[in-house]
Amino acid sequence: MTEERLHTSVLVSPAGEKRAQRRARRAAATKLTAAARAEQVAVAHASRAAARAARRSTRYLPASGEPGPAALRTTGRLRLPHHQDTSATWAGAYPFLAEGGLGADGVFIGQDHNSGTAFVYDPWVLYQRGLITAPNMVIAGIVGAGKSALAKSLYTRSIAFGRRVYVPGDPKGEHTAVARAVGGVAIELGHGSANRLNPLDEGPRQANLDDQQWHAQVAARRRNLVGALTETVLERRLTPLEHTAIDIALTDAVRSADVPVLPMVVDRLLQPDDAALADDGRLAGHALRRLVAGDLAGMFDGPSTVRFDPALPMVSIDLSAVAENTTVVSLLMTCASAWMESALMDPGGGKRWVVYDEAWRLMAHPALLRRMDAQWRLARYFGIANVLVFHKLSDLDNVGDQGSANRALASSLLANAETRVIYRQETDQLGPTAATLGLTRTERQLLPDLGKGQALWRIRDRSFLVTHQMVPTELELFGTDARLV
Ligand SMILES: Nc1ncnc2c1ncn2[C@@H]1O[C@H](COP(=O)(O)OP(=O)(O)OP(=O)(O)O)[C@@H](O)[C@H]1O
Ligand SMILES: [Mg+2]
Repeated sequence: MTEERLHTSVLVSPAGEKRAQRRARRAAATKLTAAARAEQVAVAHASRAAARAARRSTRYLPASGEPGPAALRTTGRLRLPHHQDTSATWAGAYPFLAEGGLGADGVFIGQDHNSGTAFVYDPWVLYQRGLITAPNMVIAGIVGAGKSALAKSLYTRSIAFGRRVYVPGDPKGEHTAVARAVGGVAIELGHGSANRLNPLDEGPRQANLDDQQWHAQVAARRRNLVGALTETVLERRLTPLEHTAIDIALTDAVRSADVPVLPMVVDRLLQPDDAALADDGRLAGHALRRLVAGDLAGMFDGPSTVRFDPALPMVSIDLSAVAENTTVVSLLMTCASAWMESALMDPGGGKRWVVYDEAWRLMAHPALLRRMDAQWRLARYFGIANVLVFHKLSDLDNVGDQGSANRALASSLLANAETRVIYRQETDQLGPTAATLGLTRTERQLLPDLGKGQALWRIRDRSFLVTHQMVPTELELFGTDARLV
């Protein structure tokens, strides 16, 4: 339909319009249409002219590049003089390219992304070579980053080198299957388990002690342990009067039985022979009574049904049945770690890993934190490498109040660990993590983009970007997301 006819058809003729008027109206409509079209044509012309002008004023490089020296390339072959040198010299010539590596002695971890080579690690080897001054390590990263998997690979792969592994408290029970697979034991503790731990057990005897030293050591260990259990239930330190009351009750209980058990100590605390002591030990007695007759009964109140065998390749204490009850976790771990300590404190015991997985839960208990700290300080002497696994470095700031002794202990754990393995971190953690570890800007930028199994390894002031590689049997054994996939 032409434009004119369109106008004619849309314009409604007013009623009673004369012929002359109709002609005039149609003529006016035709004129309007023509003017609009002329304007459109003029605008199109103008924009085509502007585009042509813009094209003409832009200079493009020729497709084959600038001619002559400006081409910055030669048609002939590039010839450089041949030069050969030692890697020590090249490290000086290209200082920022790649790390020299830690050598080939140790357990295979995976691939080092800076050099493309295999990454191996063994804290004892690094210590011998003077690269670190303490064999402890911390592993931090968000949930599911692969922290526990790394710890499991590290210790299982090193069992082949004669190392042994202790997990003094495993709140998720995820090391149980691994312990059994490598020929070790996992001891399940808690309500519903038939296993009992007698805090008054003598524990394994070190070969280098004579009878007198051994009895003194057992007596000290029992006193410490019963004291620590009482403190945990009371949630405060013992008073000197309570110390005395416990000591007298304990000595009496030990004298009167071949296998002393906790109920005997409780009876003597609540009804001592010397009535003057009754008041002194009353609170301690009631606190310990909780372990014998109260809600915590059945775990500590009889002879031990499980034995701690330090000769096994791996021993893990599975606390998954009681993980939600912080008092029970703390009490069980206090007993278990006292038990393990006697084996750990044997300098002839060889090189051993002690793994604290989910350490942020364990560090909430002051008594455990003090034990851990003591063990970390002595690690070198006893040949122990401690591994602390948690989510973020600021977990350490949540231990105790600002400026408190416990906060200082938590910070000293980090200070005594020269190997820090950092998995992916939440963005709000980048600043604090970078500041604590002295990361460079590039290292800091890497942290939020690390994938599963990828971590930044800081070994003293050296850095490695490493992907932890696992074989299919490990993936099957170490997997923790079976319920999700
Ligand atoms: N390097 C890796 N390659 C492939 N899969 C991995 C790797 N590391 C871990 N995984 C898998 O990712 C899952 C989670 O790993 P893991 O349990 O070690 O995480 P996590 O950091 O300890 O988590 P959480 O903080 O919850 O304890 C596991 O099922 C494991 O098999
Ligand atoms: Mg884990």
